[in-house]
Amino acid sequence: MTRYARITGTGSSLPPQRLTNADMVELLAPRGVETSDDWIVERTGIRARHFVADGVYASDLAVEACQRAMAAAQATPGDIDLIIVATSTPDMVFPSTATILQRKLGIAGCPAFDVQAVCTGFIYALTVADALIRSGTSRKALVVGTEIFSRLLDFNDRTTCVLFGDGAGAVVLEASDTPGILATDIHADGKHTGILCVPGHVSGGAILGDPLLKMDGQAVFKLAVGVLEDTARTTLTKAGKTTEDIDWLIPHQANIRIMHSTARKLKLPLDKVVVTVDQHGNTSAASIPLALDHAVRQGQVKKGDTLMLEGVGGGFTWGSVLLDF
Ligand code: ACO
Repeated sequence: MTRYARITGTGSSLPPQRLTNADMVELLAPRGVETSDDWIVERTGIRARHFVADGVYASDLAVEACQRAMAAAQATPGDIDLIIVATSTPDMVFPSTATILQRKLGIAGCPAFDVQAVCTGFIYALTVADALIRSGTSRKALVVGTEIFSRLLDFNDRTTCVLFGDGAGAVVLEASDTPGILATDIHADGKHTGILCVPGHVSGGAILGDPLLKMDGQAVFKLAVGVLEDTARTTLTKAGKTTEDIDWLIPHQANIRIMHSTARKLKLPLDKVVVTVDQHGNTSAASIPLALDHAVRQGQVKKGDTLMLEGVGGGFTWGSVLLDF
């Protein structure tokens, strides 16, 4: 019998502090940085984002998201035999945020590791977990995206600081006789490293280089639209499906214009696109599982629906996962 990996529970976590675009205008004004609700909404679709308080780490948001996902899957920490965390904002340089999360969840012994593919991180993590489950290595995995991008933002750079937020999303992915994940597709092209990066690093106890986010927004925009269409088509072909089989497109939530233009290229009606970027901003690796969990809890996504998850981000990385929910 074919062994598949199936999502049996979703969960998410957002820090309580919510900043509207008006709050961002107020936050940036003393620095002499001008922005407006109109500009942000028109260019990005973002209306609000959440920022963590001091002393809260990516693993803390992940704990809450995982506990909710495990409750939804009726799983206990003792059932989990694999933890993969997608993050670009780990608690520490090392050990991995996955091992810190493992300890906070009261789990010991199972493999736990981080995946770093920036905003495509959750797609990479889901792809790896799918392979480990289908091969028989793992039975029940926690796959998590968790980010604290607020700590990487340059609040003197209005072209980036209004775009990002903090949050976490998680799924329980488990072995099943029925699908589940139908096909996956992941890619990277390192020649585009410079268009979206945080170039600083730690050396000899000091930070060398700039530790804040840098982005060439227009270059990212152009690349993103092309690769998101390509990867969705590749995954559909691998699964023997067409765009008509997709009930919901759940893209990385970076910019409503990128999401809508991907849907148009795939000839998908815009009402089949799950949108949370308006309320969460861009939460990098957390954005897809956060959007999935919100869509499930709001009754949009239902059991049996066919979902296309797709992401694009720094590296450049991109990829997609087609699954029956
Ligand atoms: N408020 C007001 N004005 C602004 C702001 C702001 N926050 N930011 C930029 N502007 C101004 C610029 O200074 C410029 O003014 P000028 O014409 O006087 O020079 C004008 O707005 C237009 O700027 P552009 O950069 O050309 O604006 P654009 O329409 O390209 O939108 C944006 C910028 C939103 C960043 C867009 O390029 C984009 O969304 N790119 C993709 C970003 C993305 O998706 N990143 C994430 C993908 S991967 C990941 O998630 C990590």
